[in-house]
Amino acid sequence: MTVSLTEQAKRWIAARLHPGDGAIDATVGNGHDTLFLASRVGENGRVFAFDIQTEAIDGARRRLRQAGLERRVFWYLKGHQHLAESIPITWRSRLRAAMFNLGYLPGGDKLRITRSATTIPALAQAVELVSTGGRITVIAYTGHPGGEEEADSVQSWLGRQPGDLIFWRRVIPVGRRQPPLLFLIEKR
Ligand SMILES: C[S@@+](CC[C@H](N)C(=O)[O-])C[C@H]1O[C@@H](n2cnc3c(N)ncnc32)[C@H](O)[C@@H]1O
Repeated sequence: MTVSLTEQAKRWIAARLHPGDGAIDATVGNGHDTLFLASRVGENGRVFAFDIQTEAIDGARRRLRQAGLERRVFWYLKGHQHLAESIPITWRSRLRAAMFNLGYLPGGDKLRITRSATTIPALAQAVELVSTGGRITVIAYTGHPGGEEEADSVQSWLGRQPGDLIFWRRVIPVGRRQPPLLFLIEKR
């Protein structure tokens, strides 16, 4: 059975994210990852969730409210390039995971996409913020204008990082034209 990239991303994160931890959802979108992270961090953990669109934050908030998990989430209607200055200092030492799901909001405005000029600084901040052993996932889509360039930028940025700082590998689904890419990252 083929395991979807989103499921593989969740499994990578789940292995390190436990009740009481902090986690970052760098691209809230429809809130599926926010819900997953909120369910993993438990009552005493928190998710720091970023998106530039009100529509995304509002929809995701509803999703989390319906699941009874909204109070586990801090919402930020701003770009993920502001991660470091936004997450409360008291949570810094408890951050164990970050998820990036790039591109546009499914069912939303296809022109409001993530862009490498802000994705790369955000990824650098996430690597800095998560504690040793913490994990990060990036799903990058190559089928929309600018997507392939963004995926290339993520890969070359990862390739330039010292091997003693992070371990990373790339997963590409077989047999698809313009496949999305999954980057699995762990801070050493
Ligand atoms: C593919 S969707 C995310 C899907 C989401 N993870 C889910 O579970 O439904 C990408 C999201 O990134 C958001 N986005 C675009 N630029 C952003 C930025 N600089 N910072 C944070 N979010 C951004 C878009 O508004 C869109 O909602």
